[in-house]
Amino acid sequence: MRPAEVVRRGSGYLERHGVEAPEVSAEALMMRVLAVDRAALYARDRGLSAAEARAYGRALCLRCTGTPLQHLMGEQGFRRLVLTVRPGVFVPRPETEVLVGVALELLEGTEGPRVVDLCTGSGAVALAIADERPDARVMATDISEAAVALARENAERLGLAVDVRAGDLFEPLPAACRGEIDLVVANPPYLPVELAADLPPEVRADPPEALFGGLELMRRLFTETMAWLRPGGALAVECDERAAAAVAAAAREAGFHEVFVRRDLNGRDRVVGARRP
Ligand SMILES: C[S@@+](CC[C@H](N)C(=O)[O-])C[C@H]1O[C@@H](n2cnc3c(N)ncnc32)[C@H](O)[C@@H]1O
Repeated sequence: MRPAEVVRRGSGYLERHGVEAPEVSAEALMMRVLAVDRAALYARDRGLSAAEARAYGRALCLRCTGTPLQHLMGEQGFRRLVLTVRPGVFVPRPETEVLVGVALELLEGTEGPRVVDLCTGSGAVALAIADERPDARVMATDISEAAVALARENAERLGLAVDVRAGDLFEPLPAACRGEIDLVVANPPYLPVELAADLPPEVRADPPEALFGGLELMRRLFTETMAWLRPGGALAVECDERAAAAVAAAAREAGFHEVFVRRDLNGRDRVVGARRP
């Protein structure tokens, strides 16, 4: 049977098991198993070897039981980059590309900006900024050692200079940078923990410390950011759509001005931006 036909059947199998966008997973997993691109997959007449068929069947089973497609593929596209991803570190989401867009807007007119990405995970935001603003000096932190290791690995593979450090928010950064930063960007954990039981398995595959948080962490982040930004420096944070108004209010309470809320591609309030007076 041609691989294209196996993909069609695989897609039906995933659909029957309630997997979202089954055709996307079925096709991507076949490309991974055969190590070919889309065109080569559909051009191939030769059927699957026994080993390929076994590998494809195993991948479909894992997908059915909630393993995220990105964990099975080992990579995720983000802005202009393809990042390595793996279990134990948050998988970057498409909506976070909007956070990068806001960050780049806030950097317009600043040459050689100093940027800090807090809660960097795989390094997605820091690396995208380093890629799209090659004059930026980017530092990133994460409390998870696994995330720091992956972000460093991504930086090295992509040839992007990002200084990644392990620790709580700004704690691992050089004290000399206090009051000197042009932009602080962050996608902190922000889901209410009460939602945990209702989350789909793909989301629950992310580490809990990457998912659950709230206004308390956001407030601490704002207070510390105020001390690390230069006067006129900017802040951009991703937040839960239901909390955007409260997050914007917390930014004002922390002393920020020019506070605004930006929607993601689904029209949901997703990013809060602001400036230090
Ligand atoms: C939602 S993930 C975002 C990852 C990445 N920025 C992205 O957008 O794909 C949140 C990240 O924050 C990290 N984190 C949680 N609490 C932290 C803290 N107090 N200081 C630094 N990082 C923290 C988690 O380990 C996780 O990697």
